[in-house]
Amino acid sequence: MELREAIGRRRSIRFMRPYMPVEPAKIQRMLEAARIASHWGNVQGLRAVVVFRDSAPPETLEAVKGAVAGYQIERAPVVIVWYFDAAAVDDQSDRLRELVAAGAIGVGDRKTEQLESTLIPFFESIREDLKAPGLNELDAGQGIAQATLMAYEQGLGTCCLGTPNREQIREQLGLPDSARVLVLQTVGYPAEHWEAGGQRPRRPFGELFHMNRVGTPFPRSQEVVDELTGAGMFTRPAPLPYREAELEYLRRAIDVPGSGLI
Ligand SMILES: Cc1cc2nc3c(=O)[nH]c(=O)nc-3n(C[C@H](O)[C@H](O)[C@H](O)COP(=O)(O)O)c2cc1C
Repeated sequence: MELREAIGRRRSIRFMRPYMPVEPAKIQRMLEAARIASHWGNVQGLRAVVVFRDSAPPETLEAVKGAVAGYQIERAPVVIVWYFDAAAVDDQSDRLRELVAAGAIGVGDRKTEQLESTLIPFFESIREDLKAPGLNELDAGQGIAQATLMAYEQGLGTCCLGTPNREQIREQLGLPDSARVLVLQTVGYPAEHWEAGGQRPRRPFGELFHMNRVGTPFPRSQEVVDELTGAGMFTRPAPLPYREAELEYLRRAIDVPGSGLI
């Protein structure tokens, strides 16, 4: 699948085939994609525990279950618990040294000296601030986005879900004190059509993106829009006419308890 089409098909999938396990190799490809994403200072604080419904202990499944729309977690064959480990920031000086040695940052023969005399002492002086949410969560998002595209490219669907159960998850999964649980990502084979009711609404392009200064919308070329539509990145807008019928079919098929925003 071309990248543009993969981006267009990346849609939150809430209904998975509960009977169809996900091959560990497919999950590995997702994690490999996350691992090579960019991180500020090459810190690499993104971590994950992959919970397989078929083999995880009941207490682990119970801990991850308490998310919003819990039925999604209960039915999904795999739940990836993504977290950020702030302890990774403690090793940042070494990551910077690796970057210089790799030829990724700096030019000329003074780069090592300047790294040791200026950059590393500066970062050392603000070490605790650097652990705060901000760039770290951005890094995590980039890694998770790459993993997500890899999932769709392999015929899988995913949905990110927040959780109020951070402490229970920390305990059951053995996360260190320095971990911040970010999001749970269900992974499985979609039970719904890939369109999942159509492209979900988005704010107008010109409201989101600007040129040179806020207030001047970034010019949106219709030619580019048409090209991306042709490539499969822009798809039919939600709700498709049969979405309600599809939802009712899915609700019965995977035995979703109750109705409403469950
Ligand atoms: C970081 C993140 C957290 C999310 N948390 C939840 C959640 O707790 N519950 C939920 O029902 N959906 C959650 N979602 C899914 C969004 O509601 C979904 O992305 C949105 O409806 C747009 O649909 P789309 O992803 O198909 O474009 C989350 C998505 C992201 C990216």
